[in-house]
Amino acid sequence: GRDILDLESLSVEEIELVLKTAEEMKKIMKRDIKKVPSLRGKSIINLFYEPSTRTRTSFELAGKYLGADVVNITTSSSSVVKGECLRDTILTVQSMACDAIVMRHPIEGAAAYAAKVADPVIINAGDGAHAHPSQGFLDMFTIREQGKNLKGLKMAIIGDILYSRVARTNIAAWTKMGAEVHVAGPMTLLPHDIASLGVTVHKRVEEAIEGADVIDILRIQLERQQKGLFPSPREYARIFGINENRLKLAKPDVTVLHPGPMNRGLEISWEVGYCDNAAIRTEVQNGVAVRMALLFLTLTGGKHIENVD
Ligand code: CP
Repeated sequence: GRDILDLESLSVEEIELVLKTAEEMKKIMKRDIKKVPSLRGKSIINLFYEPSTRTRTSFELAGKYLGADVVNITTSSSSVVKGECLRDTILTVQSMACDAIVMRHPIEGAAAYAAKVADPVIINAGDGAHAHPSQGFLDMFTIREQGKNLKGLKMAIIGDILYSRVARTNIAAWTKMGAEVHVAGPMTLLPHDIASLGVTVHKRVEEAIEGADVIDILRIQLERQQKGLFPSPREYARIFGINENRLKLAKPDVTVLHPGPMNRGLEISWEVGYCDNAAIRTEVQNGVAVRMALLFLTLTGGKHIENVD
């Protein structure tokens, strides 16, 4: 097996393999009995140092649909509260003969550190503002499922680029796959290295979304903004919030993505969140399929895929 820490370190061929495998996994998800024995006898531990609804639940279901045993550790009710360090927690989990650790942590590089000290496969489920590779895969899968090949598409990423591991991951993936990536957000929420990421930066959100094939609306991560949001939430919604009028600037068949959870009325209006272009719940569904593919490929090397046709 090999670790999945970010998308920068994967080749286009490896990305294609995950997406193709996820197509097979989605067929398994659509069955009445969505359980196959591909990972029977494997154990997976979800180790989450930050809250999660989508990622944790979908990794758990993904493992279970493939026949693995999955255990969740929520650090707030674990011995982390008693002061156990990350290394000891990982080695403790490893001693229970687990095969993979799916890990979310607030510090950038925590998953890479875990991969250095531990033998099981490490899958990064989000490390600080750095990377969220399974989100990157589910977004690419969702876009391609709509018949849009990434090459040459205009992609707009809007909002809190600075604190967003989703933005950093999708910028890396989409530029690698040949898309044109445009970003817009408050100056206070742009990273210092934005010029080196291969994107076009716009001051006005309207310029970024004009003629866009895909708009990725980021969650404003209030929990990471120690000094509070600047501009204020009300100003942010007025200047950068995606509402129906702004959405009309994009292509009529624009795909609207949002990693969730949404701050409705802040970065996305209620109407846009529920509109026909919004693929937000499809992203969640595809999240299970791509996580099945990631667990399957990392734990078996792809040798025992069941023919689902
Ligand atoms: N998109 C995402 O990572 O959502 P959760 O924080 O609910 O897992």
